[in-house]
Amino acid sequence: MKTTKANTGLLSRRQFVATSGAAALGAVVAAPLIRPSATWAANSDTLKVGLVGCGGRGSGAALNALMADENVVLTALGDAFKDRIDGCLKNLGKNAKVGARVRVQPDHCFVGLDAYRKVIDSGVDVVLLASPPGFRPEHLKAAVAAGKHIFTEKPMATDAPGVRAVQAAAEEARRRRLSLVSGFCWRYNLAERAGFQQVHDGAVGEVRTVYSTYNTGTLWSRPRQPGWTDLEYQVRNWYYYTWLSGDHLVEQAVHSIDKMIWAMKDEPPARATAHGGRQVRVEPDFGHIYDHFAVVYEWASGAKGFLFCRQQDNCSNDNSDTILGARGVARVLGFRGPPEIKGEKNWRYEGPRPDMYQVEHNELFASIRAGRPMNDGTWMTNTTLMAIMGRMAAYTGQTITWEQALNSKENLAPALDWNGKLPTPPVAMPGKTPFV
Ligand SMILES: NC(=O)c1ccc[n+]([C@@H]2O[C@H](COP(=O)([O-])OP(=O)(O)OC[C@H]3O[C@@H](n4cnc5c(N)ncnc54)[C@H](O)[C@@H]3O)[C@@H](O)[C@H]2O)c1
Repeated sequence: MKTTKANTGLLSRRQFVATSGAAALGAVVAAPLIRPSATWAANSDTLKVGLVGCGGRGSGAALNALMADENVVLTALGDAFKDRIDGCLKNLGKNAKVGARVRVQPDHCFVGLDAYRKVIDSGVDVVLLASPPGFRPEHLKAAVAAGKHIFTEKPMATDAPGVRAVQAAAEEARRRRLSLVSGFCWRYNLAERAGFQQVHDGAVGEVRTVYSTYNTGTLWSRPRQPGWTDLEYQVRNWYYYTWLSGDHLVEQAVHSIDKMIWAMKDEPPARATAHGGRQVRVEPDFGHIYDHFAVVYEWASGAKGFLFCRQQDNCSNDNSDTILGARGVARVLGFRGPPEIKGEKNWRYEGPRPDMYQVEHNELFASIRAGRPMNDGTWMTNTTLMAIMGRMAAYTGQTITWEQALNSKENLAPALDWNGKLPTPPVAMPGKTPFV
């Protein structure tokens, strides 16, 4: 990786956040409307798709986009690293169902931290955002400013300035009638949708407690290769750096947090208190993130949410949600099966169960064609902030309110210098790490 900050023209996240307030939003507002989605309804134009972040999920999202609508072609790829683009292109190109619609010319393969801009400016109609979440606010803001429809993977940010930037971008997408669909995939799972609808319709009575787990094993790490600078090492191992992933509470257990706030009809909790630490996964290969968290969320009504998550090997695993109401209990079993309710009337989902990742894209492309924009902006940013709030509570050892979390000034992004030193930040210490 020879790219330097000087020749990418990249704004560091620090600079980006500094310019992403009212002035920057004004610039977006002043921009002309670019092909409002309503125009798609009247024709059968081919929709061109560009992918930013060509790893595992990005490649999967591109496949889902191509499967969603037979008049979709993939025309641009962007990634920090060329080998990831090559791998993605090879895999998608040989796919029997969609390979013929993978039409990415070599001059539409963009490498570097500014690749997202080149993908967005390459003439695409829809952008899929699947880089590490620390870059998401910058990518999302640029995609909205350019008038693109968007699928964005979760989480939406790793710090509160990032969440605020995404909130502003989502609002702007709404104003410009652009579709904005998030990768909080359980919201697109028909079984979960039906189960949460039951809960919202009162099948368990007033919700008093939600207990959620995301207890699982450790994940990958990528050993340092000769020639990798500190920044390349961290971006390649993005999972283990809070500025990039948000920690595993924000990156992975955010799915459980999403179901918890969904059970509460998307009302944000009033405050969070949390424990956490780094007990087993302590080697430098794993950056500075924790390997376990326990968070208690409290709502104004007195309802509580208990969230346990860990990434430790050889332990009992579970990924489920139990919603306790005044008159019954809902069990949300995720990958283990459809939700079931025991209450005044027992219920179990018996309907169809299509792949939720495919449903995300089916609904996105149908909304674009119909000129009926979708916008997941409000809840996708609330879910992300709820996860960040839990991390703040665990890292500092303090009880953190929703307002504190939302207004936090903590900007995690370092200056992005490909060749400079980028030390691993210290492991957060409850009682010592300050709330910022
Ligand atoms: N919804 C889900 O169930 C689900 C599942 C897996 C991953 N995800 C999310 O998808 C995202 C990607 O995860 P993944 O598993 O594909 O990781 P990955 O490491 O396989 O892929 C990430 C890719 O982004 C590239 N990248 C890094 N910085 C970039 C930048 N600034 N611009 C462009 N590309 C950049 C990396 O080189 C890599 O190829 C994450 O936000 C993750 O949380 C969601």
